[in-house]
Amino acid sequence: MKKGFLISFEGGEGCGKSTQLKKFAIFLEEEGFDFLITREPGGTEVGEKIRNILLHDKAALSSKTEFLLFSASRCKLIEEVIIPALNEGKIVVLDRYFDSSYTYQGYAGNLNLQDLQTITNFAIGDDAQPDLTVLLDLSYEEGFQRKSADERLKNLDRIEQKGKEYHDKVRAGYLQLAKDNPRRIFVVDATKTQDEIFEIVKFEFKKRYQNCQNGTK
Ligand code: TYD
Repeated sequence: MKKGFLISFEGGEGCGKSTQLKKFAIFLEEEGFDFLITREPGGTEVGEKIRNILLHDKAALSSKTEFLLFSASRCKLIEEVIIPALNEGKIVVLDRYFDSSYTYQGYAGNLNLQDLQTITNFAIGDDAQPDLTVLLDLSYEEGFQRKSADERLKNLDRIEQKGKEYHDKVRAGYLQLAKDNPRRIFVVDATKTQDEIFEIVKFEFKKRYQNCQNGTK
């Protein structure tokens, strides 16, 4: 039975997710929470191998193949890391989760969302549902501008290379998901400063965590 708290962070390229995750980890540490942070794809030995195929392999992958690989990595992470940590009462912080599959492979990759939901439910089960998902919302243009010139030229991974049309659909997909899941997904305007965003995230987390502890979520 799940006892901990699961929070996922989502957003398009350059939305400031990594910065927020760092700030959030420092906050949890300072407040004395028992927590762990992990990422998707990856987070386990097998997952990191799958990550390498997904992001850096030269082979062309269809959205369907991508989705199944992301799901396999996710399933391993749930079995090996997420469920045991939640059972120990930890706060589990996820750098991306299944919403990324729904937006990138679903909305942008044109896969049927219901198919993705069926397979995702099979992969994650009932005990690894997020208590809160923070969505950092930013346009593709602004996100891309934030990357350094070097990152823009050389280090784009396979998914980052997909271009504006794809990433516009990712953003629209996230906003649709937020509309469909208003209790779970909390949208933050990522054009605000990193400090402002962090205060908003911290406030929302404290509220939800408290409700969860009181059994009123
Ligand atoms: P990463 O380097 O972790 O990027 P970011 O800092 O943007 O999180 O790369 C993860 C990439 O994989 C990112 O472009 C989003 C993509 N992705 C999917 O397409 N589907 C998924 O289910 C997940 C988890 C990630």
